[in-house]
Amino acid sequence: MRRLAIFASGTGSNAAKIISHFQGIEDIEVSLIVSNRPKAGVLTIAEQAGVPSMIIDRSFFYDSNQLVFELKQRSVDFIVLAGFLWLVPSYLIKAYPRKIVNIHPALLPKYGGKGMYGMHVHRAVKANNEQESGISIHFVNERFDEGAVIFQASCNIDPVDSPEVIREKVLTLEHKYFPPVVEDVIRKQVSSKSY
Ligand code: GAR
Repeated sequence: MRRLAIFASGTGSNAAKIISHFQGIEDIEVSLIVSNRPKAGVLTIAEQAGVPSMIIDRSFFYDSNQLVFELKQRSVDFIVLAGFLWLVPSYLIKAYPRKIVNIHPALLPKYGGKGMYGMHVHRAVKANNEQESGISIHFVNERFDEGAVIFQASCNIDPVDSPEVIREKVLTLEHKYFPPVVEDVIRKQVSSKSY
C-alpha cells in the first residue's frame, strides 16, 4: 500500500477529487490531510471522507522537523500540495525527494513565484490579455513554483472571459488531470526509482 498526504489550505476541491479517485484504487490511499488553516473547507471534506487531518502552525512547520516524524509514523510515502501556499522547508524536501508535487493554476514558468496563487494568478493572466492559460503539475523544490514540470494542460481564453471564468476553466482542468497524474507519478516511482 502507498500512502499519500494532501497539504491544502483552501476549499479543497482538488483534495476531494484526489480522495475520491484513490477510493476506487486498491493499492494507493489518501491517509492524511494537512492544513495550516483551522477553518479551511478541506477539513470538512476530509471529515466527510473519513480521512484523518492535522492542523499545523508556522512554528511547527518551520522551526522543527516534527512533521517528518508525524508523516513517517503514518507511513506516508508521497505528498501532494493542492492549494497549499506556504513555501516547503528544505528538511521536508530532503525527507521526501521527488515525492512532493504541487499544482499551479497557470502555465509555468509564467505567472509563478511568491504571491502568485489563486485569483492573483487569474487576474494577472487577464490583465495581460493572454489567449490561453492552464495548469502545471510539478515537483516541489525550495523555491516557489520552480521545480521540474511533470505535466501541463491548457485552455483557451476568450477576450470576454473574466478572471472568475478563467478560474473555472483552469479548475476544470485541475479536477480532470490532477488525480490521474498523481497516480502516474506514484506508479512510475514504484516501478523505477529514477522517475
Ligand atoms: C487551485 O486552483 C490551485 O491550483 C491553487 O489553489 C487552488 C486550490 O483550490 N494553488 C495555487 O495557486 C498555488 N500557487 P481548491 O482548494 O479548490 O483545490
